[in-house]
Amino acid sequence: MIVVDTIGELHAFLAEARAEGKSVGLVPTMGALHEGHASLVKRSVEDNGVTVVSVFVNPTQFNDKGDLERYPRTLDADCRLLEALGASCVFAPSVEEVYPEPDTRVFDFAPLDKVMEGIYRPGHFNGVAQIVSKLFTYVEPHRAYFGEKDFQQLAIIREMVRQLGLSLEIVGCPIVREDDGLALSSRNALLTPEQRHTALAISRTLFASVEYAKDHSLAETKQMVEQAIADTEGLELEYYEIVDGHTLQPVSSWDDTDYIVGCITVYCGKVRLIDNIKYK
Ligand code: PAJ
Repeated sequence: MIVVDTIGELHAFLAEARAEGKSVGLVPTMGALHEGHASLVKRSVEDNGVTVVSVFVNPTQFNDKGDLERYPRTLDADCRLLEALGASCVFAPSVEEVYPEPDTRVFDFAPLDKVMEGIYRPGHFNGVAQIVSKLFTYVEPHRAYFGEKDFQQLAIIREMVRQLGLSLEIVGCPIVREDDGLALSSRNALLTPEQRHTALAISRTLFASVEYAKDHSLAETKQMVEQAIADTEGLELEYYEIVDGHTLQPVSSWDDTDYIVGCITVYCGKVRLIDNIKYK
């Protein structure tokens, strides 16, 4: 496995791989890697001749400067994990390498980016589209891997690929959870042991809501989740939306569509945690 920090070195590596006829998988990350990221890398290593993993804390997608500053950075440990997983190349560029001048591109993924994270993190998905489109240009992967943990992000990346007419395949991968149910997240490292325990109420509530939904209306189920989070000391709900999994628009009845997902964002202290659950 090689670790490079310039686009030139990345291109040199990829030219060799392509000359050998190998397919290229890309796993974009912001580092502080855990088993959730590892599941994407494993899938890419299975599917492709070479796997490039990018590790870059992308400033343009952070609307909160404190969140950007607090974001954990663990490149050495990340590289050890990636080597063990069989990744071929780690691309860990500086901010100047990726943004030699400010990226002024404005994307519009309406209606996908006008709900949920799009409301509470203005500009976030524009920043995600800026970095991911740049990575797709640098790497020109055959396949790129994204987690369903960031459900709205995955839908938006698929839409971006469609809008830009790119030919790569976007592979969505299931949420990896701790044994007790908490969705793995780089931000979990920022939780105190007590907060870590409190945060468990998020996944527990989502799982319970799937059972509850079997004999309750959609509105009652939404209310049940909101109440359970409100009743948990130490958690503050930002939103809980039950949406059409294709369009991300809120639905009002279980019969509205064939694919229904509940998406939640909760603050545990200053740490912002997201999760989601499929109802059907
Ligand atoms: P990051 O939060 O590092 O996540 C990188 C990838 O890992 C994303 O596709 C995310 O959905 C996936 N992932 C994170 N936790 C997961 C879990 N518990 N189970 C399954 N997959 C999980 O998402 C980003 O970085 C950035 O926005 C990025 C796409 C890299 C652009 O900067």
